[in-house]
Amino acid sequence: MASRTSDFATITAQDRALVASAIQASKFAHAPWSQFKVGAAAKFGAKIVKGCNVEFDVYGLTNCAERTAIFAAYASGAARKPMTSIAVVTDTPQPASPCGACRQVMFECGGGDLRVILSNMRGDIRVARMRDLLPGGFELAPLNKRIASSKRKKA
Ligand code: THU
Repeated sequence: MASRTSDFATITAQDRALVASAIQASKFAHAPWSQFKVGAAAKFGAKIVKGCNVEFDVYGLTNCAERTAIFAAYASGAARKPMTSIAVVTDTPQPASPCGACRQVMFECGGGDLRVILSNMRGDIRVARMRDLLPGGFELAPLNKRIASSKRKKA
């Protein structure tokens, strides 16, 4: 992990608002199998988009809170702006660390500079940069001219 646990009071007001939104989102977690509730809140421009984990009887169809938030951002149009930060909250003794699949999606959406705020319910916080959580994440554009030019057109 890139940084040590610090206190809720030491992060910015913007980060605190994001953590508060992630706590709200965790209340909607649908986790009948693991009973492990996760909330996420991602900032796209001025908008905060929330997500929770959602589990199904076919366990492999489960969606993590981070990806739920990011998919909701695409579905609502918020993802037309870049994602600058994301908070992830769990009810655990230490802040939890995002899974590999979510790291790749977060990296593709927010890039290496993305600010990742990990928190538990009592406000122990870890702040990391995406590039430290996923060094060498996969990027198609540098490998494929057609994708590179369509990404440039969107920006
Ligand atoms: N989970 C998340 O929502 N985010 C993570 O970063 C790790 C795990 C969820 C998936 C599953 O519903 C539950 O936590 C237990 O693995």
